[in-house]
Amino acid sequence: MEHHVEELLNEMTLDEKLGQLTQSRGGRSKDLNSLVDDEQKALVRQGRIGSYLHVAGAEFLTELQRLAVKESRLGIPLLFGLDVVHGYRTIFPVPLAAACSWDPDAVEQAARLAAEEATAAGVNWTFAPMVDVARDPRWGRIVEGAGEDPYLGAVMAAAQVRGYQGERLSDPNSLLACPKHFVAYGAGVGGRDYDSADVSPRTLAEVYLPPFRAAVQAGAGSLMTAFNDIAGIPMTAHQSLLQEVLRDRWGFSGLVVSDWNAIDELRAHGVAGDRAAAGALALRAGVDMDMVSGIYEQDLGRLVETGQLPTAVVDAAVRRVLRVKHWLGLFEDPFRYGNTAREQRVILSQSHVAFAREIAGKSIVLLKNDGDLLPLDKNIENLALIGPLADDRKAPLGSWKALGQPDDVVSLRAGILAAVGPNTEVQAAAGCDLDGDSTAGFAEAERLAKAADAVVLVLGEDDDMSGEARSRSRLELPGVQRQLAERVLALKKPTVVVLMGGRPLAIPWLAEQAPVLVETWLLGVQMGSAVADVLFGDVNPSGKLVTTFPVGVGQVPIFYGHRNTGRPASTDPSKDSARYIDAPIQPVFPFGHGLSYTTFNYADLEVTPPEVDAGDIVQVRCTVTNRGKRAGDEVVQLYARDPVASVAQPVQKLVGFHRLRLQPGEAATLTFNLPVEMLGYYDAEMSYRVEPGEFRVAIGASSADVRLDGSFRLREEVRDQGEPGSVFSRVDVTKNSAETPPLDSDAKLQP
Ligand code: GLC
Repeated sequence: MEHHVEELLNEMTLDEKLGQLTQSRGGRSKDLNSLVDDEQKALVRQGRIGSYLHVAGAEFLTELQRLAVKESRLGIPLLFGLDVVHGYRTIFPVPLAAACSWDPDAVEQAARLAAEEATAAGVNWTFAPMVDVARDPRWGRIVEGAGEDPYLGAVMAAAQVRGYQGERLSDPNSLLACPKHFVAYGAGVGGRDYDSADVSPRTLAEVYLPPFRAAVQAGAGSLMTAFNDIAGIPMTAHQSLLQEVLRDRWGFSGLVVSDWNAIDELRAHGVAGDRAAAGALALRAGVDMDMVSGIYEQDLGRLVETGQLPTAVVDAAVRRVLRVKHWLGLFEDPFRYGNTAREQRVILSQSHVAFAREIAGKSIVLLKNDGDLLPLDKNIENLALIGPLADDRKAPLGSWKALGQPDDVVSLRAGILAAVGPNTEVQAAAGCDLDGDSTAGFAEAERLAKAADAVVLVLGEDDDMSGEARSRSRLELPGVQRQLAERVLALKKPTVVVLMGGRPLAIPWLAEQAPVLVETWLLGVQMGSAVADVLFGDVNPSGKLVTTFPVGVGQVPIFYGHRNTGRPASTDPSKDSARYIDAPIQPVFPFGHGLSYTTFNYADLEVTPPEVDAGDIVQVRCTVTNRGKRAGDEVVQLYARDPVASVAQPVQKLVGFHRLRLQPGEAATLTFNLPVEMLGYYDAEMSYRVEPGEFRVAIGASSADVRLDGSFRLREEVRDQGEPGSVFSRVDVTKNSAETPPLDSDAKLQP
C-alpha cells in the first residue's frame, strides 16, 4: 500500500493533490445527489474532487465512481460520505435513547445493520458516531450522543465504531467510521450550539477526550473536528490536540475531516484574515480534508507555488486520504460498494425492522410507576390517547434521518391500536399544538379522558426541537402542553404520561403529579410498536437515564460526577453551602435511574483483595436477585471514588456496568474486574497517576440508588505509565442455581 501511495503521490499534480483533500456537496441532506451537476462531473474528471457528501444510492454512486475511476487521469476512487448516525433507511432510536439501553452489543448491532444498508447503497463513509459528552440539556445536539458520562460514552463510542467498520474495513459492508466532533463540542458556553468551550486541560482529559480515545482505539479510520474553539483556539486549527494528542500520543493514522465549511469559518472565529490563510492554518494543524469550503482546492495552490506552504504538508494529508481509500479496498475494487440487488434485499428488511423494535424497547426508561398502574390491560374497554405527538410519524425519526421516511414509522397511536384487544375503543385527541398558545383543544381532550378507563398522555418535543442548531434557552414542555397535562391529570383518571423528545426536559411538576411517567425519546421506525410493547407489558422496561433531569434550566449544568467542593450542598438552610436558595439540591431524576415491572435485590458485596498494588485487578462481587413475578433486565452499575487525592476527585465515577436478564426468583453473581489504573486522574502537572490510599466502591441501580458499598486500599502509587489507553472493567456473571421460580399454571402440565 505504502509503495502505491508514494507512486501515486509522485504522479500527482498539485491540483490533483489538493483535489484529494476536497469534499464537495453532492446534495442537501433533504435532497441527496442533487448538486452533482456537469460542472462537478468535470471537476471529477480533472481529479479535483476527493469525496462527496450527502450522496446515496447504488446506481447513482456506481456511475459517479465510474466517472472518477475511468475518466480521470489517475483514476483515484472517491469517498462517499453521509450522516448515518442512527440508521440509514431503517431508522433506530436516536443515540441518546439507544445509550439508555446500556447495551453496547445492541448499539453495535444497530450500527452494523446501518452499515449493511448504507454500503449496499454505495455509501462508504459515515459521519458517526457522535461521541460528544453533553452536560447541558439546552444544547440541541445532546440528542446525538451518549449523555453526560465519559465512561459510558467511551463504551458506546467503541461499540459503534466496531459496528460501522465491522471485521475489516475492506469488507464490502464495512463503513468508514468518523467519531465526531473533536473535541468538547458539548461544552459550549450556555449550551449554545457552536459556542466557545472554555474547559480546563484536566476536564478535557478526564471528561471530553475519553470517548474519542476509545473510538480511536477501536480503530476508527477517520475523525471530524468540531466547530467550536477551546478557549480561543478553534478545533479546526488546533494543532496541539490534532497533532500532539490525536496523532503523536494516541497514534491515530486515519484522516481528519473538517466540519461543514468550518475551515472558512476560521475567518469568523477571527484567527485568519482571508480564505488562503484559513486553509493554511487548518492544513498545518492537521485537518486533511476540507468539507465543502473549497479553500483547499481553490486557494492553497498559490501558497504552495510561492513557497508559503510546504509541499510536504500537502503530501502528508494526501497520503492519509489515499491510505484510507486503500483501507476501504477502493483501489482493489472501486465498485465493491453499491449493489442494487443487495440494496433491495437489505434495506428496511424484516430483520432490520424487527431489531429496530427490540432496541427501541430497551431504550425506554420507566421513570415512575406509582401503584403499578403499568402495564395496562390490553382488553381495557376505553383508552384515551391525548397529546400533539401521539400521531406524529416524522418526530420518531429523530435528528439525523438519512433515508428515513415518515411512512416507514409506526406512530404511537398505530402501535397502541395494534396492541389492544378487539373490543378496546381507542379515542385520540391532540389536545393542543406541539408549540403555540391555543387551548381550544382542551375541552375535547377532557371529554375523552372523562369517558375513558385510562389515559395515555403524550407530551414533549418533536425531531426539530433538538439536533443541530436547536439549542433551547428553556427546558419546559413547549407551548401549552403543561396546561393540557394539568387539566387531564386533574380528572384523577389512571393516567400514563409518555415523554418524547431529544433532551432531558425540566418537568418537576409532572414528576410530582403524574402517577406514571415513561421517557420514550425518539425511537425510530418502530417507535409505536416498542412503546406499546412496554405499556401493555410485552416488554419489561429496562432503560436507565444517561443524562440528569434538572428541575429547571437554572439548575444547569448539573451532573452526577461532580466535585464535592469545600461546602457540599446541604439540605440544612442555615448552612452556607454549594446550592441555590430557591431550588432543591437534587435533580428531578438522576443519572442511571430507570425502573422495571419487577424488583431486584442486591446483596453479598465482596471487594477482593483488600489491598492492591499497581497493575492489579480489584474484584468487586455481588449477588443480584429478581424478586418479582416476571423476568426483567437490570443494569447493575459500579461507581468508584478516591476520597483523598492531590487533585479533588468527583464524588462518584462510573467504572463499570452490566445489563443482566433474570427470570423471576433467579439470582446471579456479578464480578466486576476493576483494573487499578482506571482509578487515576491527571495531577497538577497533568501527568496521569493513581495515588495510594483508600478507594471506595459502590454498586447501585442508579447513581443515586446505591445498594452496596465497600472499599480497598492501594499500597503504592501508579504513575509515569503514560496515559492509559481506554480501559474497561470486564464483568463475569455466574447464574446461581435459580431458586424455584414461581411456576405458572401451564408449566405444571409440562413433563
Ligand atoms: C453538520 C454537522 C456534522 C455533519 C456535517 C455533514 O454541520 O455538524 O455533524 O456530519 O455537517 O452533514
